[in-house]
Amino acid sequence: MDAVRIFDTTLRDGEQSPGFSMNTAEKVRMARQLAALGVDVIEAGFPIASQGDLEAVRKVAEEVRDVPIAALARAKKEDVRAAIEALKSAAEPRLHVFLATSDLHMRVKLNMTREQVLEAIDSMVRLGRQHVAEVEFSAEDAGRTEIGFLCRVCRVAIDAGASVLNLPDTVGYAVPEEYAEMFRRVREYLGDPPGITLSAHCHDDLGLAAANSLAAVRAGVRQIECTINGIGERAGNASLEEVVVALAVRKESFGVTTGVHLNEIFPTSRLLSEITGIQVVPNKAVVGSNAFAHEAGIHQDGIIKNPLTYEIISPQTVGVPSRSLVLGKHSGRNALRVTLRDLGYEPNDTELAECYRRVTALADQAKQVRTRDVVSIAHEVMRRRPAVAQTASPAA
Ligand code: KIV
Ligand code: ZN
Repeated sequence: MDAVRIFDTTLRDGEQSPGFSMNTAEKVRMARQLAALGVDVIEAGFPIASQGDLEAVRKVAEEVRDVPIAALARAKKEDVRAAIEALKSAAEPRLHVFLATSDLHMRVKLNMTREQVLEAIDSMVRLGRQHVAEVEFSAEDAGRTEIGFLCRVCRVAIDAGASVLNLPDTVGYAVPEEYAEMFRRVREYLGDPPGITLSAHCHDDLGLAAANSLAAVRAGVRQIECTINGIGERAGNASLEEVVVALAVRKESFGVTTGVHLNEIFPTSRLLSEITGIQVVPNKAVVGSNAFAHEAGIHQDGIIKNPLTYEIISPQTVGVPSRSLVLGKHSGRNALRVTLRDLGYEPNDTELAECYRRVTALADQAKQVRTRDVVSIAHEVMRRRPAVAQTASPAA
């Protein structure tokens, strides 16, 4: 099976969004965990942005030796030089040069003609290649770039020495078929030159970042750029956990592998939340607190009989310690019986019915029933039973 490389940009695109900035020590801590997770490239920062970011990239490059470290640069001499400087001590440096290629960005933001853009790509990729063996070029706003021009951009970047061509959906505007079609057209034009990797980089403005990244894989892309917990500009980047787990769960359908150790996903997500102080929403795919929690009685009953009924992946596979059967107004008797058994109670049918009545009455008032509520209900109900008839004593 083909391998899809996972390019993690949590420390660059993720970090540049409001509330997620990290200092050098935090970036190094996070980078070590990303290495343990098994990503293929860590983009550590944008060195021209600040002296602090340059130092952070330098420190990550010094500390993390077994994963290629990337640094971002606009197609400008001062940016490229700052990135090269930051990457000096990296074991495997990757220079990531970008320039916008859509007519809108070139006219409004850059005030450059198409020819000037092609010239800047050519000269800055060449400058980078004089110092760094691996140069990636990103055509910013590729998703809204006229396809004929985008093909020329790719040709120029390859001829100048880029070995990775990243075609971002910078503003999260693309839909999966369109985004995949863009890569098919570029591949057709370039003719799949050996040693060149196409890369997807998607933003989530329409909630399609993961779907677009997966569509790109079907169109031949072999690198996906993504972030832990999907953090990133505006609505975020494609979330690493969603993309990687989708490729793993639907391996037969995609026919590709990644080097990510799935059981490190949850610890990595938690570490990022701890460092930034920002929790993921409970219903976030894979890593949200509800991702393996079941409250509805029918679902709980199914899960107790066989987890495959309502879970397409086990919590342990992605490093979540356990699933939870949440007791609330929708939950069922079977889940209560299992919860009570785990707490050390073996109620008979009458006791279970009474416990269930009290738990659901409580759940009608409160949003959730806590473990200590269940213990006190069970204690109360089962205390009435003659001591000899008790089969188990309550847990502490
Ligand atoms: O979204 C984008 O276009 C980017 C590039 C700089 C790669 O983040
Ligand atoms: Zn981006």
